[in-house]
Amino acid sequence: MKNFLVQNIVSGSIFQTQLNLEKDYLNFFKKLKYKQLPGNTNYTHMSLDNNLFEKYPKELKEIKKLIHMALKELIKNVYMYDCSFKLTTSWATRSDSFEESSVHRHLNSWLSGVFYLQDNNSISFFNKDTGGFLGDPREWNQYNTLTTNIKTHKNTLLLFPSHLYHRIPPLDLKGVTRYSLSFNVLPKGFFGSGDSQVFF
Ligand SMILES: [Fe+2]
Repeated sequence: MKNFLVQNIVSGSIFQTQLNLEKDYLNFFKKLKYKQLPGNTNYTHMSLDNNLFEKYPKELKEIKKLIHMALKELIKNVYMYDCSFKLTTSWATRSDSFEESSVHRHLNSWLSGVFYLQDNNSISFFNKDTGGFLGDPREWNQYNTLTTNIKTHKNTLLLFPSHLYHRIPPLDLKGVTRYSLSFNVLPKGFFGSGDSQVFF
């Protein structure tokens, strides 16, 4: 095969890390109240509150601190910004076997994250920037893929740009109800430059 010089145009990357928590938070998330997402009888359930970090500052102090540290590292050393940031919304998701979410992205947000409380989780990300030619290729690879499935384990934190489309795929969870914590992030204080500088 010809050796092409490949220059990837990145529309977004997904960053994964493990949080070293001292406590187990599964029971806390089990006790929250949930409602099913509208639109389909097999959609997942979302917590009634979408501001869990504000509503439960004591209970979630350790998780919030470690998420904050991971975000700081990502923003400062990977994205190379020195801005402050704020966790805006934060909510829990409850999934039973074969429940799923629609393909969606998070609006009014810069970065998003999901923290997993148990093993054997899956989330799918979608490349919506491809053209519409030819149908399925002979073989899927990093250059033609439309979907990236990520498997995560207990205490995994995923961080990604909020514009990336994603969904929870339907899975046989073998009777185990799955819980996760999601959140959105916006920059805060002075950010931007020139006539685009804002104070938020
Ligand atoms: Fe989401």
